[in-house]
Amino acid sequence: MRLSVVLLAVSLLCLYGSGGRVAASTDFNFPAVFNFGDSNSDTGGRVAAGFESIFPPYGSTFFGGPAGRFCDGRLILDYLSALASRSHSLVLVLSFLNSPVSTIKLEAMDMPLLNAYLDSLGTPNFRTGVNFAQAGCSITPAKPTSVSPFSFGLQVKQFFAFKDKVIKLLSKGDMYRQYIPQEDYFSEGLYMFDIGQNDLAGEFYSKTEEQVIASIPTILLEFETGLKLRGEFAGASITYVDIHTIKYNLIANYSRYGFEHATQACCGYGGPPLNYDGNVPCGHTVSLNGKLVTAKGCSDSTEFVNWDGIHYTEASNFHVASQILTGKYSDPPFVVKMPFVIKPRF
Ligand SMILES: *[C@@H]1O[C@H](CO)[C@@H](O)[C@H](O)[C@H]1NC(C)=O
Repeated sequence: MRLSVVLLAVSLLCLYGSGGRVAASTDFNFPAVFNFGDSNSDTGGRVAAGFESIFPPYGSTFFGGPAGRFCDGRLILDYLSALASRSHSLVLVLSFLNSPVSTIKLEAMDMPLLNAYLDSLGTPNFRTGVNFAQAGCSITPAKPTSVSPFSFGLQVKQFFAFKDKVIKLLSKGDMYRQYIPQEDYFSEGLYMFDIGQNDLAGEFYSKTEEQVIASIPTILLEFETGLKLRGEFAGASITYVDIHTIKYNLIANYSRYGFEHATQACCGYGGPPLNYDGNVPCGHTVSLNGKLVTAKGCSDSTEFVNWDGIHYTEASNFHVASQILTGKYSDPPFVVKMPFVIKPRF
């Protein structure tokens, strides 16, 4: 069985390679991507669930308007899933030109962006995968006070419900094939996990640092239990990617990577140093001390690491994705065998 998983748990990203086929030669040639996570990889789940709306300038850098993502443009997942996809022949053509991705403009390509599981309108297409991630989700089971009820265990259950339904539909003939994965895509696919940030962030509001650190083993145990559900991943090998080191380095050394602001939000209210006010979220107009105020976007989001005080800008996400693909932050380390080159913009 060839089963691959990328994990970004807590501060780790992880790639599942096939049993024995060590990630040292990850070839990034997958028929489908299945993603689990929180707002860092939510491509529309929370909005589709009806929990909240996202207003401009969200999505303005790439999508021309809000696109279900808590970002001005694309997420790390958008870059990785586009590059991971077997069906993406245009990437291969461009590779021969050996151009930096930033100048060839990924948007010119027919990128297979991952649809949210709860998307029911428009043209949801799950042929090359599905995204269960939702903003606010945690690894540990949701409590009545949680931001989102769709914790990791529930996302895993959604995955199995999805898989069961796909297999039933496939048995009915060819009429759904263009919308759903083939059966072997489940064993050949890339599974990515980017979750855990909300477990820690939520704890910091009510606990001391020592208590938060003490809770990490419980969070990881919950995560492991989720992964082992139904023994589905028995033949898979896992690669962890230390995404914390990538992001910490980006924030600490931001100017070296072409950014001008490390912690100031591009879209927010209040001005420097943070340009962030929890009462005035990005894109919202609210009455503050009897005055209507709006959290607006900056003029050039590529100068900012931070988008809205919580999430990263598209420029940061591109940086992180390209660092992930160097394979240097992985355990075990891998060399991505891709027929194209990503050159960071610095
Ligand atoms: C910042 O860059 C320097 C020089 O490459 C490096 O030694 C240091 O570890 C980086 N900081 C972080 C937090 O990664």
